[in-house]
Amino acid sequence: MRTLTVALGERSYPIHIGEGILTRCGELLPPQASRRAIVVTNPIVEAFHLGILQKALSGAGIRHEAIVVPDGETHKDWTTLYAIHTRLLELGAERSTVLIALGGGVIGDLAGFAAATYQRGMPLIQIPTTLLAQVDSSIGGKTAVNHPLGKNMIGAFYQPRAVISDTRTLSTLPDREYIAGLAEVIKCGSVRDVALFEWLEVNIERLKARDPASIEHAVLESCRIKAEIVSADEREGGERALLNFGHTFGHAIETATGYAGWLHGEAVAAGMVLASKLSVLAAGLPTSAAERIIALVRRAGLPTEAPRLENATWLQAMAHDKKVVSGALRFVLLEALGRGTVRGDVTTTSVTAALGA
Ligand SMILES: NC(=O)c1ccc[n+]([C@@H]2O[C@H](COP(=O)([O-])OP(=O)(O)OC[C@H]3O[C@@H](n4cnc5c(N)ncnc54)[C@H](O)[C@@H]3O)[C@@H](O)[C@H]2O)c1
Ligand SMILES: [Zn+2]
Repeated sequence: MRTLTVALGERSYPIHIGEGILTRCGELLPPQASRRAIVVTNPIVEAFHLGILQKALSGAGIRHEAIVVPDGETHKDWTTLYAIHTRLLELGAERSTVLIALGGGVIGDLAGFAAATYQRGMPLIQIPTTLLAQVDSSIGGKTAVNHPLGKNMIGAFYQPRAVISDTRTLSTLPDREYIAGLAEVIKCGSVRDVALFEWLEVNIERLKARDPASIEHAVLESCRIKAEIVSADEREGGERALLNFGHTFGHAIETATGYAGWLHGEAVAAGMVLASKLSVLAAGLPTSAAERIIALVRRAGLPTEAPRLENATWLQAMAHDKKVVSGALRFVLLEALGRGTVRGDVTTTSVTAALGA
């Protein structure tokens, strides 16, 4: 097992990463944690992994109950949040009771926001079970539910007390979900760490074949990057925005297609291809570097082609992106492999050229 720290003063917390560590979960909970825990999960994750967690909690003398909510992004909403609050009240949960989010990013965001708001905040433990959640969403304290008028529009920054990433839980993840998570790993290397990017170029087939040591390396390095960035910029005033590389185009794909047929990681992959082309045009990224990114995305089994949309549709969808600052579209671009930059001076001409390239 390896342990990293998200350094946020009094709110610092560990990220534990290792194969099979769910069985040791009881001893990995922070010592000050209460002797009572409530696990929020969904029926799919419940079937595969809840039993192991329950056994670990019982073994550590921690009393526990579970709240099982329906699976899927469409249930990351106010109704499910309210149902969790109701159940917490019915169970007599106290402010010191620990809430454990066991699942992918949907469960992490939803249960995280429930923990942030129940009695003004109860301790939260993230146990991510998708690759996307292990390398990205479980770290950094963004919690939210969707509103009919916008994704993730109602939420809070609320850091967990610990993140416990058991890479073995990924063995039950469907291929498509697993591959989609690789997009965020490629993103981390592209914006911040050329060594990770080069490691991916060498090891992408092993990683796709779910070689345990390769998964552990990819999760560890991605978490290290995210932990560093979040420690420096918790509320996304500056460099945390680098983690949105490929996301402005990606969100536009998700919005314009009504989320139909595109997983988040797939949209981000096609978005990174476009952002790399735009980086060549507007940030001096060498063409050869953009070609390496595109080749890696392709070898990962991710889409390199965005859906064909009218330019106006793209621009409109991107203008709705919440990363718009006072009317100007901001883009995360690359100056070099491993060196991301936030640019507010990108012209629509360049964007249109990148879309057509
Ligand atoms: N908070 C953040 O910083 C942040 C960052 C990125 C994404 N997100 C959010 O994360 C969500 C997407 O997360 P996701 O990609 O993990 O999707 P998800 O949570 O919907 O999980 C994908 C599917 O895999 C299933 N699943 C989960 N773990 C499994 C396992 N071990 N074995 C088999 N099936 C399993 C889930 O039930 C679901 O059907 C979005 O709502 C997005 O907004 C949040
Ligand atoms: Zn993402």
